[in-house]
Amino acid sequence: MKVFIDSAELMEITPFYLYHQKMAAGVTTNPSLIKKAVDARKGDMRLGEYIEQILRVAEGTPVSLEVTETAMPKMVIQGKALYERFNPIAGNVNIKIPVNPALTPEDDSHLDGIRAIEDLVGLGIPVNCTLVFSPEQAMLAAQAGASFISPFAGRVDDDLRKRLGAPFDKTEYYSSAGRRSDGHVVSDNGIVSGVHLVYACVQVMERFGYDAQILAASLRNPRQVAEVEVAGAPLATIPYGALLQMIDDPVQVSSLSLPTLDERRWAIMHHAHAGEADEAEVQNMLQHPKTYEGMGNFTRDIVPEYVALTGGPE
Ligand code: G3P
Repeated sequence: MKVFIDSAELMEITPFYLYHQKMAAGVTTNPSLIKKAVDARKGDMRLGEYIEQILRVAEGTPVSLEVTETAMPKMVIQGKALYERFNPIAGNVNIKIPVNPALTPEDDSHLDGIRAIEDLVGLGIPVNCTLVFSPEQAMLAAQAGASFISPFAGRVDDDLRKRLGAPFDKTEYYSSAGRRSDGHVVSDNGIVSGVHLVYACVQVMERFGYDAQILAASLRNPRQVAEVEVAGAPLATIPYGALLQMIDDPVQVSSLSLPTLDERRWAIMHHAHAGEADEAEVQNMLQHPKTYEGMGNFTRDIVPEYVALTGGPE
């Protein structure tokens, strides 16, 4: 498994590339993390220059830059602008697009993420599809042509722990086989853990022969990282703290016991893979409460300087 750093902090990205050259395979960022890192430097670099520096440090490996727009066609316009502005620096930019940018089930933008992926890929721009919480979303993102697909493992575990009702620390390991309550394994529509989500997404890529690579994301601890590797993820993006722990104290995992997806779900995905699903069915497959929640958190963190970089209002 290749390892990306999930960070926009040059003080983390630089040592990762400097001291762990063999491991360092890419960077995933988001606008608010970039802004936070730039602000911490107290004005010694502008936001655009800072992004350029990340791209140079990561030269030869992919760096994801995320769009802040949440509807078509602005997502494509901004993704294209980000790519045109930054890819010439080191030739390593991919654009991060949410699988479904809607904030609520009532919004009419459920298909806009998939459409934006198709358009950007059509322009030759590689895409990392983010905020993936179901194998169906992963399937549709792969079908749209995304190069990377990011299932958010840690947030699935958070959600399952909330359902269990016990207080928890986000960085704590959550059993990949799930936990039981009232005689049943607690699940999100059959997904029993974040590692299980990653495994299901990998199965989807394999079964349908998609080229997209699963980039396990929202990873919080070394055991979870070791398990997504055993689950078959070719890539994982890891925050600096977990990376250091992983390097200091490597965890070995030899096997996992994860449930297979039920046949009903596979049948629905086969139908969509064959191009036979209508718009309402595709829309249905794209919906997930954790994707809405992720979009809600993301859009609350507006970074006007980032928007201005790509031609938006100052
Ligand atoms: O790469 C996704 C990541 O930044 C989200 O992580 O810990 O906020 O769920 P987290």
